[in-house]
Amino acid sequence: MAPPRKLHIKSYGCQMNVYDAQRMVDVLTPQGFVETASVDDADLVILNTCHIREKASEKVYSELGRLRLARDEAAQSGRRMQIAVAGCVAQAEGEEIVRRAPVVDVVVGPQSYHHLPELLARADAQGRALETEFPVEDKFGFLPQPRPETIRARGISAFVTVQEGCDKFCAFCVVPYTRGAEVSRPVAAIIADVERLADNGVREITLIGQNVNAYHGDGPDGRAWTLGRLLQRLAAVPGIVRLRYSTSHPNDVDDDLIAAHRDLPALMPFVHLPVQSGSDRILAAMNRKHSAADYRRVIDRFRAVQPQIAFSSDFIVGFPGETDVDFAATLALVTQIGYAGAYSFKYSPRPGTPAAEMPEMVPAAVMDERLERLQQLIDAQQSAFNKAAIGRTVDVLFERAGRKPGQLVGRTAYLQPAHVFPGPGMSPDALVGQVLPVRIDSLERYSLLGELAATPPQHARPLAATGA
Ligand code: SAH
Ligand code: SF4
Ligand code: F3S
Repeated sequence: MAPPRKLHIKSYGCQMNVYDAQRMVDVLTPQGFVETASVDDADLVILNTCHIREKASEKVYSELGRLRLARDEAAQSGRRMQIAVAGCVAQAEGEEIVRRAPVVDVVVGPQSYHHLPELLARADAQGRALETEFPVEDKFGFLPQPRPETIRARGISAFVTVQEGCDKFCAFCVVPYTRGAEVSRPVAAIIADVERLADNGVREITLIGQNVNAYHGDGPDGRAWTLGRLLQRLAAVPGIVRLRYSTSHPNDVDDDLIAAHRDLPALMPFVHLPVQSGSDRILAAMNRKHSAADYRRVIDRFRAVQPQIAFSSDFIVGFPGETDVDFAATLALVTQIGYAGAYSFKYSPRPGTPAAEMPEMVPAAVMDERLERLQQLIDAQQSAFNKAAIGRTVDVLFERAGRKPGQLVGRTAYLQPAHVFPGPGMSPDALVGQVLPVRIDSLERYSLLGELAATPPQHARPLAATGA
């Protein structure tokens, strides 16, 4: 048998890319590849790229510059290193990548990576291979399942893509172009994936999609199911103790999703609901198709059924034409909602998007100043939210042993990292995969520190090996 070839994947961008990188490993494992943590001994390096902002996109080229040197060094010791660019930059720039960086052997878009084995073979034979069409077949039908030991090694929390692409066309955003039209996977395929993950130790599932709550996959009853209905079904999968979903659009929040938050204890009361701006004028220019008041009403619907619920969001500052008054409306909205955390970005014009054609660019210094002010407000809200946990007993799903001896690390319902020392007689490994009450004593940066509030019930057994 040929010795295994070594594969190194570097992923940028969103959760969809994290998921895709794992699925690329699943595609290449049967081809005799094993993962390596270092670029230097890799036979194949894949950059799984993000195109969302200019900075993210340009990173690829500096990385390719470094890879050229690594490849020359490998060549000197008689080893051939192949280099592939996958993800959203691959989709958006295609041949341009090869023109700027001839070192690249394969360019493959996010809907085509199930073809990686053929593309690598074609690059071997012909020197290079590119595929950035949206293929007629659906990649999910061709992706091999991860092996049980792979699932265990990936830990107790897993992403499952249920929906891909976006039909919303916000004026600033490349996703509809890089990921293509919105498509939902069938319910049965998702249940099968989740059951397989749960059978191999996974306890927490995050359903992901660029627009996950637009989910409308075919159900076993021949009807389109909503995300709420899907969540309800997945809550019944044995072993699954926590469910999450990301990223949602305010306009696609429907009654089923609200009902799911009311009815399902496994559905975590923490929702990422990007709003982008608090100004109706800017929201309209962004083609968001909702106002700030619409957004507040959506938040109120969640809060009415689930008082424990907390929110995070995304914001863009300095969208073309944004005035001080518009920006003040964003600060006002943040103050009204009160977030557990949020991401904020300076507007970055993206080629091919309508906003890139808009005049009235906000000066860089103004953008910097607005970003700083918004981030200060969000940081203050986040620390207040985290501080509020001190003195309380909260449920923590334990994920892995910590860096310090005897330490155990998990997350609260709100994804706050929580650290405990279970004490002598309790092996941290045996507690991984369990949800246990923790009394929070203090806060260290973004992490909560505490103690197990009660010994685990007698019947508790290790649910998962982390493979670590
Ligand atoms: N589908 C999600 C997230 C899309 S990308 C949604 O609808 O919200 C993640 C975030 O990147 C966006 O929410 C937005 O805040 C930011 N973003 C997207 N395009 C951008 C651009 N051109 N400049 C700056 N930030 C951008
Ligand atoms: Fe981009 Fe808007 Fe679609 Fe989100 S909803 S992915 S921001 S176009
Ligand atoms: Fe980036 Fe593509 Fe995700 S552009 S944010 S990797 S969908």
